[in-house]
Amino acid sequence: MRIKNKYNLFLVEDCAQSHGASYKNQMTGTFGDIGCFSFYPTKNLGAYGDGGCITTNNYEIANKIKLLRNYGSSKKYFNEIQGFNSRLDELQAGLLNIKLSKYNILLTNRLKIANYYLKNIKNPLLLLPKIQDHSIHVFHLFVIQSESRDKLQAYLESFGIGTIIHYPIPPHLSSAYKELGYTIGSFPITEKFSKTILSLPLFDFMTIREAKYIVKVLNSFE
Ligand SMILES: Cc1ncc(COP(=O)(O)O)c(C=O)c1O
Repeated sequence: MRIKNKYNLFLVEDCAQSHGASYKNQMTGTFGDIGCFSFYPTKNLGAYGDGGCITTNNYEIANKIKLLRNYGSSKKYFNEIQGFNSRLDELQAGLLNIKLSKYNILLTNRLKIANYYLKNIKNPLLLLPKIQDHSIHVFHLFVIQSESRDKLQAYLESFGIGTIIHYPIPPHLSSAYKELGYTIGSFPITEKFSKTILSLPLFDFMTIREAKYIVKVLNSFE
């Protein structure tokens, strides 16, 4: 926000993973000019297909977005600008409304598991996530780091514990962005993380019993 204000920038908040998160009691999605939330099925507040929403306090932007999502049209057959066919499907919206009303229950369980992990994973080979001061972290993912990540992933797999790497290939090394000219070494920190990160199981109805088993296996890794 300091940089935005200094240079008078337009700020788009990527809130894809942060439903319910806050900093100094201010919810994500309310800092920038617009906030973009994802309702992709695996997200904390996930639909049963793709979806998302944009938050803003600016009526002009809100009206423009409403136009854009509906073929650039506010009146049937009149297309004021070129837009997209990108409305949130009514069925998804209906399901999300129900899920939203239970979101606190889902989030409380997620945080219970995340806190269990934070308190009980004790292995010097593993680095745990840190919660920033004055923040509510909603743990869409629980990402740990290990210098022997691939060995750790195979070890967990051998005990029937599935994990995922979010993400193994940094964008600047993907074919899609080849033309930007970045190579190995351009972003060493990102590249290091792509080799050390591992997302542990964490889902809506996960139980402490399941977490206990995972922690036991993690603590026995050497
Ligand atoms: C941080 C972040 N930004 C953006 C996106 C994209 O969201 P969507 O899949 O709804 O377009 C995702 C989802 O994968 C994400 O995790």
